[in-house]
Amino acid sequence: MSAGHSPHLPPLASGPGGTDALRPLLTTVLDALAAGAVRRGGPLPAGGPDAVAARVADALGDVLPDTGDPDALRTLVQALAEGAADPADPLCAAHLHCPPLAVATAADLAASALNPSLDSWDQAPAASALEAVVARALAGAAGLADALVTTGGTEANQLALLLAREAHGGSVRLVCGAGAHHSLPRAAWLLGLPDPVVIPAPDGTLDPAALDGALSTLSGPLLVAATAGTTDAGLIDPLPDIAALCAAHGVRLHIDAAYGGGLLFSDRHRDKLAGLDAAHTVTLDLHKLGWQPVAAGLLAVAHPHELAPLQQRADYLNADDDTDAGFPDLLGRSLRTTRRPDILKIAVTLGTLGRDGLGALVDQVCALAREFAALVREHPGFALYDRPDISTVLFRPAEADDTAVATARRRLLYEGRAVLGRARLDGRLWLKATFLNPHTRRDDLARLLTLVELAALAEGSTPG
Ligand SMILES: Cc1ncc(COP(=O)(O)O)c(C=O)c1O
Repeated sequence: MSAGHSPHLPPLASGPGGTDALRPLLTTVLDALAAGAVRRGGPLPAGGPDAVAARVADALGDVLPDTGDPDALRTLVQALAEGAADPADPLCAAHLHCPPLAVATAADLAASALNPSLDSWDQAPAASALEAVVARALAGAAGLADALVTTGGTEANQLALLLAREAHGGSVRLVCGAGAHHSLPRAAWLLGLPDPVVIPAPDGTLDPAALDGALSTLSGPLLVAATAGTTDAGLIDPLPDIAALCAAHGVRLHIDAAYGGGLLFSDRHRDKLAGLDAAHTVTLDLHKLGWQPVAAGLLAVAHPHELAPLQQRADYLNADDDTDAGFPDLLGRSLRTTRRPDILKIAVTLGTLGRDGLGALVDQVCALAREFAALVREHPGFALYDRPDISTVLFRPAEADDTAVATARRRLLYEGRAVLGRARLDGRLWLKATFLNPHTRRDDLARLLTLVELAALAEGSTPG
C-alpha cells in the first residue's frame, strides 16, 4: 500500500486514510441532516417554490467561489434537508417515492466510496460478480432467467421495447392500456416504433375483452405491455388472462411491475402477480416497493439470448483477447457505459432483511392503505375511488369540485403540512395517497384525513 494522503490536498474517500477522512465528514453530514429536518419541521418545506428557491440560493452563495469554504458540506446538506420532501414523514405520501432503509443507504455510501464502475471488470471486479448473481436471483424470483440493472422503471421499459424491436423488427407496435406508464409510449417514440395502440381502461385496468378485440384486428408484430401496479391507482392488470391472450395470438408480452414487483416478497400478496412469469420481459423497481435509495431498477428477461443486440466492442473496455481469457464482458449488460454498483445496496437489503423481513414491510404498507381506505369510506365527507390493490388510495372530499380538490392539495403543499398526489380517473380529479412508509401509524392516517378536510374547508385561494 502507498503512503497516506497528502495533507495539502483534499482527502480521498478510499485508499489509505479514506475511512479516517470520511468519519468526521459523516458526522457533519448526519448532524446537518438532523438540523435541516428540525428547521423544516414537517413533511415539506413551507412557503412554496419561491421561498424554497430563495433559501437554497441563500445557502449556496457563490456557486464557484475563488476560495473554497470547508463548511459547504454542512451548509448545503442542511439546506437540502430543510428543503426536502421527506418520504419518511408519514404525511409525505404522494408518489412512489419510498423512504430508503438505513441499511441500504449505508451500503450506498460504500458504493460511493469505492466507486466501482460496471463497464469493465477491471473497474469493478467484485461488484460485477455480485451484480451477475443478484440480478439473476431477482429475475428468478419473478420467474424469469436474468436481469439487467437500470436507473429505474423508465430505463427498464425502454430496454423492454428495444429488445422487442430487435426481436421482431422496427414495425413492432406497442399495445397498452390507458393506465400504462407514460415511459412506454415515450420509449416507442424514442425507438422510432409505430404509434402505440392505447386501449381505453375506464376501470383503471387493461380489459381482456378489449385487448382480445384489438389483437384480433391488428396486424404485424405486436408487443402487449401490461401493468402490475398502475402509477395512478396501484391497480394490477389481469395478468393471467392477458398472458393467455398473448399466447393465443402469438404476441410478445412485457409486464411493467415497477410498483407491484415488490409483492413478490410477500407470502400474503405474491399471488396477485400470478402470470408474471409468462412475460418475455418484466420491469422491476426497488426504489418503489423495495425501500432503496434511487436508483434501483431492473429489467428481467425470460430469454437471455435476446440480450445479444446489446453487445458492443470497445477495445479499452472489453478487448476480444481479454474476453477470450475469461474476463467478464460487461458492456452488453446496459446501454450506459459508466454505471454505479446499485446492486450493492439491493444485495445488502435482501441479505439483511431476508424474504420475511421485506415481505413484512410489504404487508405493512398494504395494510396501512386498507386502513386508510376504511377511514375514508367511513367518513361522510369523503368519497373513495376503490379498494386498494397494493398501497395506493384515491379519495376526494365528496362535495368539492375538481378545482377545489386541486386547490386543497396545493394549499397543503404551500403550508408544508402534507404531500399528496393527484390522479384523474373516472373523469374526476382524485387525491392520491401512496403508502410506502411502514412506520406510519394509525393516528397518522387519521391526521392526514383531517388535514385534507381542513384544507378543503379553508376559505380563499392558495398563493400562486
Ligand atoms: C408503473 C410504473 N412504471 C414505470 C415508472 C417509471 O419509473 P422510474 O421513475 O423509476 O423511471 C413508474 C414511476 O412511477 C411507474 O409507476
